[in-house]
Amino acid sequence: MMIAVDGPAASGKGTIARALAAHYRLPWLDTGLLYRAVGVSVLRAGGNPDNPVDAVAGCDFPDQLLDDPELRSEAAGTYASRVSVHPVVRAALIERQKAFANQPGGAVLDGRDIGTVIAPDADAKLFVTASAEARAERRYKDELKTDPEADFAAILADIEDRDRRDSERASAPLKRADDADLLDTTNLTISAAVQRAIALVEARTGKR
Ligand code: DC
Repeated sequence: MMIAVDGPAASGKGTIARALAAHYRLPWLDTGLLYRAVGVSVLRAGGNPDNPVDAVAGCDFPDQLLDDPELRSEAAGTYASRVSVHPVVRAALIERQKAFANQPGGAVLDGRDIGTVIAPDADAKLFVTASAEARAERRYKDELKTDPEADFAAILADIEDRDRRDSERASAPLKRADDADLLDTTNLTISAAVQRAIALVEARTGKR
């Protein structure tokens, strides 16, 4: 069974994808990590993420970079979003994602273009969303744990910026596939969102 989970930053798609993978005992790929690895490679090389030549040079990253905690930083997320605009970068990462999606036994992938580009034939597709304010609030609470000076307005502005860049780019923009089920997590707890996701997958596939 192949499950595609897409949505904007901090929508809960990663948590939902991980829970679906555990529930259905499937391997899971967080495709955002691949773009984050490219972003961090460019950052470390002192390159410009808006320049396609610098960005594509970052695609040749070693696999162990995927375990680097720096990939989780806000800077890595912003660089990832900026490098992901370039079609050459997307092309460099596509085969790895398609191979993961099409492995025997199935898989769960989450990202921005899974249901539209990477796995258009997925058995179930979820488009996970939440209001920008709710997403910023989640990030803010998270950041407060390590930074008492976390700035809600700056986090909200960053989320809105990222939404704009990811949705308006010409190549594989963030958008709901026609056959994706919408899951709005604005007013849902994590466990309610996961239950709803499982129910949507079950309705599409008949699998519990
Ligand atoms: O899911 P994330 O926040 O870790 O993703 C970081 C950035 O990577 C995101 O802003 C856009 C890009 N990305 C993408 O273009 N396509 C994907 N399938 C996954 C991520």
